[in-house]
Amino acid sequence: MLDFKNEIATSISNVVKLDSKELYAFIEVPKDSQNGDYAFPCFKLAKELKKSPIVIAEEIKEKIILDSNIIEKVNVVSGYLNFFINKIKLAEEVKNEFLKVDEYGKSNIGNGKNIIIDYSHPNIAKPFHIGHLRSTVIGQALYNTFDYLGYNVKGLNYLGDYGTQFGKMIEGYKLWGNEYDIEKDPINQMMDIYVRINNLCKNDPEVLERCRENFKKLEDRDPYCVDLWEKFRKLSLKEFHKIYDILGGKFDSWDGEASIAPMVPEVIELLKKSGKLMLSEGAEIIDLEDKGINTPIIIKKSNGSSTYAARDLAAILYRARTYDFDKALYITSYEQVLHFKQVFETAKLLGLDEKYTNGLEHVSFGMVLLPTGKMSTREGTVVKLEDLLMEAIERAQKVIQEKNPNIENKEEIAKKVGIGAVIFNDLSNNRIKDEIFDWDIILNFQGETGPYIQYTYVRTKSIIEKAGINIEDVKENKIFENISVEHLQDPDSQNILKLVYNFEDILIQVTDKNEPSILSRYLIDIAKAYSTFYNSNKVIVEDESIKNARIFLTYIVGEILRIGAGLLGIQMPDKM
Ligand code: ARG
Repeated sequence: MLDFKNEIATSISNVVKLDSKELYAFIEVPKDSQNGDYAFPCFKLAKELKKSPIVIAEEIKEKIILDSNIIEKVNVVSGYLNFFINKIKLAEEVKNEFLKVDEYGKSNIGNGKNIIIDYSHPNIAKPFHIGHLRSTVIGQALYNTFDYLGYNVKGLNYLGDYGTQFGKMIEGYKLWGNEYDIEKDPINQMMDIYVRINNLCKNDPEVLERCRENFKKLEDRDPYCVDLWEKFRKLSLKEFHKIYDILGGKFDSWDGEASIAPMVPEVIELLKKSGKLMLSEGAEIIDLEDKGINTPIIIKKSNGSSTYAARDLAAILYRARTYDFDKALYITSYEQVLHFKQVFETAKLLGLDEKYTNGLEHVSFGMVLLPTGKMSTREGTVVKLEDLLMEAIERAQKVIQEKNPNIENKEEIAKKVGIGAVIFNDLSNNRIKDEIFDWDIILNFQGETGPYIQYTYVRTKSIIEKAGINIEDVKENKIFENISVEHLQDPDSQNILKLVYNFEDILIQVTDKNEPSILSRYLIDIAKAYSTFYNSNKVIVEDESIKNARIFLTYIVGEILRIGAGLLGIQMPDKM
């Protein structure tokens, strides 16, 4: 598509004789579209040109040569140049792009770049909690968006399947395994065993010692211990898959901490070589004080076992070699900020190419708060995730039943609406913000919610159908080839067209900032823009030419909502 900003930058550069790329970066989008579609802040040039912004603005306006078929006019308002793009050109550009491509906004700007995303990563024999849900949803949205922009993306489910707790689990199972039916309700039963053995360990040092031995045996690949560990892992994964089946979640690797652990000795060797590894109370640590990190990183515990941090360092080595990554994103709550600071700083001592250490990024997110407080497994307000998702579906079904009792496929629709609502809620605010989980807000069809996006989409579809157009035919039969875009010059239509025009730019912002909420907010803006348009314009009118133009507008809104929501991991119902 034509880049309007580029047109503006080039025209300005012809006047001021400065590099158009530099000028391009200064161009802004005014908050109020009454002030133009793009604005150039002349104070950015004041120093270089040794003139006041007001004088610069007047001079540029005087001398600038604009192609009125692209940029209609330019105004000066206190040091700003405000540009108005040609409305027909905008509509034509959007129309031609829709006719040209199969998937609007898809691009190849990421070609040749490898992105790995470490997300979801629940822990074996422990519940899949709400933090893992957020990680899954954010990670998946980023995965989809990077992929859509042509990056080579790999999703890594780095399972927490290693650590001394498995020595305890094995001991507990040995003692009481026959009392439990862990196949039936794996996570709860395993949790139960874990709590019980932990209590026993507190009172009986001999049991604790046996647990340690079990873990040692597990590390040495003792068949009995490995078998049990595999059983715990398999049963946990079966449970986790129930959640992925409902929620979505694509992973290219399920290699967890256990598969990385054998590489820890290599990490220790490399760190020794760096001369920074030191002994402290029997543990091996690295002091990071001079790097501005007050807490040292522990690489090896005093009992000889490796740490979570050491395994993350080993994983970096492994991933650099295996995936040759340009970017490695770690999606966890902000509780792990210190951990990743330490790990990323220490990774610089492994002798890796800077490309890798510069590519490490912690993508952190806030807590999920129930209206009654924090949702956590430790503090007792346990919410089982599967139950939460089921409740979402049930509640959605009730709402649908009320609004549209005769609709077919209620269950299928309720699933898309309920899960869509949960996902959208997770992505609707800046990720670092704590999120409030309130059913009434999440499932409100009129609020800034997933169901609202779906509802608007369904509405666009039904309008198109009412006009006698089969959506499936649109691409194949080039239905919109001959529409007259002159009918789309009113402010409401233009507002929609501008948003649609910006779609790819929005996706780029999502990947630049690792922030899916940029896309979710944008989808709300489009849905609202369509409501505004629809409330003041009839779509199905007598005049065929106007009707077709408005149906086209309706169609592209639906497409953007469908594609955008799809990138967020939300499916669209056909009706609701
Ligand atoms: N399993 C960990 C947890 O539940 C998260 C793992 C994050 N990824 C990583 N490479 N450390 O807290």
